[in-house]
This record gives sequence, structure tokens and C-alpha cells, in this order.
Amino acid sequence: MNKRTLGKNGPELTVIGFGAWAIGGPWQFGWGPVNDDESVKAIQFAVNNGINWIDTAAVYGFGHSEKVVGKAVKGFREKVFIATKCGMVNDGTGTALINNSPESIRNECEESLKRLDTDYIDLYQIHWPDPKVPVEESWGTMLQLQKEGKVRYVGVSNFNVELLEKCMKIGRVQSLQPPYSPIRREYEEKVLPYCLENEIGVIAYSPMQAGLLSGKFDKSKIASDDWRHKNPYFKEPVLSKALGLVEKLRPIAARSGKSVGQLAIAWVLNNPALTSAIVGARTDIQCGQNIEAGDYILSQVEIDEINKLINEAGL
Ligand SMILES: NC(=O)c1ccc[n+]([C@@H]2O[C@H](COP(=O)([O-])OP(=O)(O)OC[C@H]3O[C@@H](n4cnc5c(N)ncnc54)[C@H](OP(=O)(O)O)[C@@H]3O)[C@@H](O)[C@H]2O)c1
Repeated sequence: MNKRTLGKNGPELTVIGFGAWAIGGPWQFGWGPVNDDESVKAIQFAVNNGINWIDTAAVYGFGHSEKVVGKAVKGFREKVFIATKCGMVNDGTGTALINNSPESIRNECEESLKRLDTDYIDLYQIHWPDPKVPVEESWGTMLQLQKEGKVRYVGVSNFNVELLEKCMKIGRVQSLQPPYSPIRREYEEKVLPYCLENEIGVIAYSPMQAGLLSGKFDKSKIASDDWRHKNPYFKEPVLSKALGLVEKLRPIAARSGKSVGQLAIAWVLNNPALTSAIVGARTDIQCGQNIEAGDYILSQVEIDEINKLINEAGL
């Protein structure tokens, strides 16, 4: 699979990363029941078929996703680049709270190392901004963890330009993890160009808008405790508009023998700021289809055609 460099002098990542949110199992933002054996199989399939990196977070399943990732890569951990995140913790009642205090970040790092069954984290990311803590304090702690060798690279997620600038003043931000899909483009105008200019790697999440653009999404088939029931993209009027767009994109993807999900991933990867797209999967079959999107290059004519349809969809 094609690889791109993650930020200034960073590692080479495959253009598709394995997203390990859904395999975290049930929690406040869970995707319904999961089968851990299937999850391990999906991760091992990903690694054996060209994907060289995994994105997880301490909060996914309140630690469960990290444990499954650690189990899946046991025996070949050094072959896989593992990214995880800090700053979202269980308040003790099953509610996730944002906490980017230095103390929390340090504690979480130790816990993640244990769950992942590893001596180092390849990329440690602040999950969400925390207005209660000066970002310089949180970022200073991340840089300190890097100096200590507990983490190799440090990055952030869901940060705007102002926060990125504050971090960059005290130490390099290796990567940003923003949302980015054909129907979620708010980072496109300012943040992605800033990253490109400042050599900050961009690993975009939810390229298929949490499966909505996969071309196979059916709301009646998702579990009753799937977080997507609560999300505005999966409620009317957005849901019908998005599924209408999927039908319009289908013939464009079919011309290349691809699915709409693969088209959405290829569209995201077309942005010059992008290093890699993080694609969630729960099975080896889904994973195999997602891997195929890594070599799908859209022509400028196709990009224009797709953008016109996105604009017309009014999302
Ligand atoms: N930093 C953040 O705040 C943040 C936020 C969101 C996500 N992320 C990261 O980004 C990753 C990817 O995002 P995402 O999981 O939200 O969205 P996504 O990649 O857009 O969609 C993944 C979902 O689509 C469905 N799917 C996957 N492959 C498919 C295929 N080949 N055919 C049909 N359906 C398919 C699966 O859902 P079903 O199993 O239900 O079919 C899967 O869980 C996450 O796992 C996580 O690592 C980070």
C-alpha cells in the first residue's frame, strides 16, 4: 500500500490506518456488541495485508480497545505503529470526561502502556481540547513523555489553528487527527492548509462518516445501544440527504469497480494535507475492502463531479 510521511521527519504510514474505536465494545459511545476474536482477526488481517498502523484511544470501551489491540499485535508489536490518545477518562459512573491535566495525562500514559502490553507508544495524542487546562501545560507534559521515551511522537486531535499555534511555540506537533469526510469538511478551509504549511501530519478520522457513506449503511440493522442513534448525522433530515448522496455517488464508484465507501476514502486522501485516513472496521472482510481504497486514485474530473454532487446534496 502507498505510504506517506507523517509530518516533519516523521515515520512512513500507510495511507489507510486501522481505526479501533468500534472494537472497544459497549460504553457511552459504543457501537453495540463486539466479538473480540473477530476484532483480533480483523487487526491481524489488516497488518498481514499491508496496513502498518493502528489508531486507538484509552477511552474506547474504557480501555477495552487498547487491550484488544495489545493482544492482536503480540509477537510482532515492533512491526506496527500504534497511535493512542489521552485526556478522556471515566468519571467512575461510565461517563467520559475531558481531562488534559498533566497528572491525568501521565497516569493515563502508564495505564495505556500496560493495556497495550508495550514499552512505548508510537504516537500519543491529546484526544480533545480541554478549556479547563492551559494547553501549554498539557502539551508540555506530552513533550516530557516524549523526552522520557515513553512515547515516540506526540500529536493532537480535534484542535483548531489557534491551539496548534500555541503548541507549536513550545514543541513540534507531529500530527493532527481531525474529522474529514465528503460531508464533514469544516477543517478544510483553515486547519488543513495550516498543517500542510507547517509540516504537521494529518490523519483524518471517520472518512466514511462512521459508516454512513459505506454504501451499505442501514439504520435498521445497527444495535439499539449503538452511539450513532444519538448522532445528528444519523437523524433526519441529514440521514436521508446523506443516503441520497450515496446513491448519486454509486455510479461514479462503479465505473472503477469500487464501492461508495472506497470512493469516500479516496476522496479524503485526495487532499494534499492528508497523510492517512483512519478507517474503522470490525471484521476482516470490511478491512479487506477498506485496504483496496488505498490504491484508488480519483481523477480531477471525478473529484469535480463528486464535489458538485456533495454541494447539491445540501448537507
Ligand atoms: N479523534 C477522534 O475524536 C475520533 C473520532 C472518531 C473516530 N476516530 C478514529 O477514526 C477511526 C475511524 O472512524 P469511524 O470508525 O468513526 O468511521 P469510518 O471509518 O468512517 O466508519 C467505520 C465504520 O463503517 C463500517 N464499515 C467499515 N468498513 C466497511 C465496509 N467495508 N463496508 C461497509 N461498512 C463498513 C463499520 O461499521 P459497522 O460495523 O456498523 O458496519 C465501521 O465501524 C475510529 O475507529 C477511531 O480510531 C477518532
